[in-house]
Formats: sequence, structure tokens, C-alpha cells
Amino acid sequence: MTTLYTNIGGAPAVNAAVDLFYNKISAATSLQTFFKDTNMTQQRSKMKKSLTLLMTGQANNSADYMRRSHAHLKEKGLNDNHYDTVGKLLKETLEELNIPHNFIEQILGAVESLRDPILDR
Ligand code: HEM
Repeated sequence: MTTLYTNIGGAPAVNAAVDLFYNKISAATSLQTFFKDTNMTQQRSKMKKSLTLLMTGQANNSADYMRRSHAHLKEKGLNDNHYDTVGKLLKETLEELNIPHNFIEQILGAVESLRDPILDR
């Protein structure tokens, strides 16, 4: 079946994207406070699974799960600026990997739909 996932190149593409994305996240000063106690190896593997489900149309990235798994970050001051930074880094990542523009738009659209739950509103 053709999905966004197969279109962008399947597991190798997702792995490359998540690795590059997390290098960028780790280097972003404004995000460090949120990830300082995080096991980044585990986080990468969760993100790979999560992106795979998102792009194959399986709905495990439900708003409720995202709300619950990010609720503690609100207390640390998570806001729209941080969300914008994460979105910008993801966009840069996908562009650097030469993912076609229409697919980038679809991925960023899916990410945007999670903004309110992640910011718990
Ligand atoms: C569409 C956007 C996002 C998606 C799909 C996403 C996905 C995920 C997933 C799947 C997890 C793992 C949850 C679990 O442990 O079961 C997680 C945890 C986390 N996310 Fe996100 N996330 C997004 C946006 C953000 C943003 C904007 C930040 C801001 C800094 C962020 C910071 C974190 C942190 C710090 C954790 C917890 C790590 C820990 O438990 O130590 N995420 N995220």
C-alpha cells in the first residue's frame, strides 16, 4: 500500500530523519531544559515508532497520548515558541534529506494538528 511512509522511503528514511532531527534538537539551547533528563537513545526509538505510525495512517499519535506524554513539560514553561522551534528543526531536517515538498507539507500539517494537545489546551 502506498502511504506517506513508503513514499518518503520507509524505515531508512525515517531513521535518517529522526537521527538528524535529534542532533538539531540537542544543539538547540532553548530546548535543552526540556531534554536534560531524557534518555535520548530511547527517545529516538520512540520517535521513530511514532513517526512511522503517523505516516502509515495508524492513529497511535492520538491527541490524548500526546497531551499525557507532554503534560509535565508545561510546568517547565513549554510554549508556542518552543513548538515553533521544534517544527522549524523538523522542516530543516526533511529539506536537508531532500524529501519532496508536498510530503514535507503533509508531515508538518500532521505535526501542527498536535500543537494544542501538546501545549495542553
Ligand atoms: C508533533 C510534535 C511532537 C510529537 C509527535 C512528539 C512525540 C513524542 C513522543 C512519541 C514522546 C514519547 C512519549 C512516551 O514516553 O511514551 C515524546 C516525549 C517527549 N517530547 Fe515530544 N513530541 C512532539 C513535540 C514536542 C515538543 C514541541 C517538545 C518541546 C520541547 C517535546 C519534548 C518532549 C520531551 C521532553 C519528551 C519526554 C522525554 C522524557 O520522558 O524524558 N516534544 N514526544
